[in-house]
Amino acid sequence: MKLSDLKEESSKIIDEASKEINNVNETASLNEFKNKFLGKKSSLTDFYSKMKEVIASERKDFGLVLTSLRDKLNSLYDEKEKKLKEEKLKKKMLAEKVDITLPGRDMLLGSKHPNEIIIDDITSYLMSLGFSVEEGPEVESDLNNFELVNIPKDHPSRDMQDSFSINENTVLRSHTSCIQARVMKKMNGTYPVKIICPGKVYRRDNDATHSHEFFQCEGLVIGEHVTMSHLLETLTLLLKHLFGEKREVRFRPSYFPFTEPSIEVDISCAECNGKGCNLCKHTGFIEVLGAGMVHPNVLRMNGYDDKKVSAYAFGIGIDRVAMLKYKIEDIKNFYTGDINFLKQFVKE
Ligand code: PHE
Repeated sequence: MKLSDLKEESSKIIDEASKEINNVNETASLNEFKNKFLGKKSSLTDFYSKMKEVIASERKDFGLVLTSLRDKLNSLYDEKEKKLKEEKLKKKMLAEKVDITLPGRDMLLGSKHPNEIIIDDITSYLMSLGFSVEEGPEVESDLNNFELVNIPKDHPSRDMQDSFSINENTVLRSHTSCIQARVMKKMNGTYPVKIICPGKVYRRDNDATHSHEFFQCEGLVIGEHVTMSHLLETLTLLLKHLFGEKREVRFRPSYFPFTEPSIEVDISCAECNGKGCNLCKHTGFIEVLGAGMVHPNVLRMNGYDDKKVSAYAFGIGIDRVAMLKYKIEDIKNFYTGDINFLKQFVKE
């Protein structure tokens, strides 16, 4: 076959392909085009097979014609494929158009629970006085919750805290004082110890100011020459920080099995300024915490030499502080998850 004829045939194929590609407007017909012009049984393969009919001296030139035919067909195909893809994307984007003039959805910002606000306040204040924070589990052994803080089984002082039992040896902790036993065990007779432990506690209690679940923050300081005056000063600073400089702080002798001597601490009623009203049951003062010098039995049972070291401890009721600070009458508000109640504590 003559090279000139082959050249003519090649341009015919190109002409035909160029026409057909114009009619291609979807992937299916693009595939047909591919089969017809580039596939196994295509015009291009036919053209290849003509090689054997070309005389040896013209084969090189035929090769060039062949390559340019192949390149042209491929480029027709590639261009169309690209165009179809672009069109598809364009259509998709048009269909998925976002209306940026629509107003956005409001994100409701949550708030800290009032107890959490008080815990954060107390911990950051006491940390500034050198305390560090410890934690313990809410499900606690009878040993830590009672025995190691000097409340033996069958002792009448157990009645002060009516607890929930999981089994004979396990309770929902009824106070954070159990953390004292945990910390002392960990410290293994070493000191100084200066810790606070905020956390949830449980008792069988139920009235406007008592709930079966509530929060406390324990404090424990162990060292040489730790005295009651250290305790009184720390508590005075803390309570004035929480309730304001104007509040009077009052200490009363009291009884706890794990402290000797023991005290209870009141602040003057903010409602009536100490004159007496319903809130303070006409006493002018409101009780906020229990405290005392750690009983020598507790120190000894937990691996400390009570001749060498002394310690003080206190336990403050978080809910009580929150109720007084935010004038909340019923403690149940803290535990019902009522959004309207909690919204009041959103920081502006
Ligand atoms: N654990 C006591 C209570 O829950 C409070 C307290 C703690 C008293 C530490 C003295 C010392 O009532």
